[in-house]
Amino acid sequence: MALHLGDTAPDFTAESTEGPIAFHHYLGDGWGVLFSHPADFTPVCTTELGRVAALKPEFDTRKVKVLGLSVDPLEDHEAWSADIAETQGTALNFPLIADPDRTVADLYDMVPPAAENNLTVRSVFVIGPDKKVKLIITYPASTGRNFDEILRVIDSLQLTANYSVATPVDWKRGEDVIIVPAVSDADADAKFPKGYTTVTPYLRVTPQPDL
Ligand code: BEZ
Repeated sequence: MALHLGDTAPDFTAESTEGPIAFHHYLGDGWGVLFSHPADFTPVCTTELGRVAALKPEFDTRKVKVLGLSVDPLEDHEAWSADIAETQGTALNFPLIADPDRTVADLYDMVPPAAENNLTVRSVFVIGPDKKVKLIITYPASTGRNFDEILRVIDSLQLTANYSVATPVDWKRGEDVIIVPAVSDADADAKFPKGYTTVTPYLRVTPQPDL
């Protein structure tokens, strides 16, 4: 069954390059990113995994645990890790889940019904501390993802969770944010001590509150 935003992220246990993982327990009370790639020893995936390893400090800063997944077996993940370290300049520093029987892939609907090869596509799930799915993005196998964009969305999601703000089109960290309509002007006065500008009654902008 397809997953939707707001659903509870399905729990699972699986083998990974960092040992067995019980997903919900592993996430604890923090945020998580679960992303799938089509296959080990493939060029686009190799660049993606190297990039996520290089960005690990950025995920750590945001208290987000990252997990990769494909339907390849653990031995392949381990052998491929050496190629990633050698060619991308950054060794894997997060767990890569081995899902050869497609248990997790099926739970997260990571293999499109029309796929001829039974491989996962490039799915991304961001999961909040409440274990609810906050973001779903799916790319085709031929397009490498932009993980800076994933970090940008996580910044937005965390601001919404912590400060009742939304982020406007093309927003980047450090730029003004939008006070959500559910916050009254009276509450906004107290909640946003840096002040805010009322562009229209429904569009109120304020400096990014956590800076
Ligand atoms: C790749 O990672 O390069 C790739 C994987 C599957 C299909 C196409 C490209």
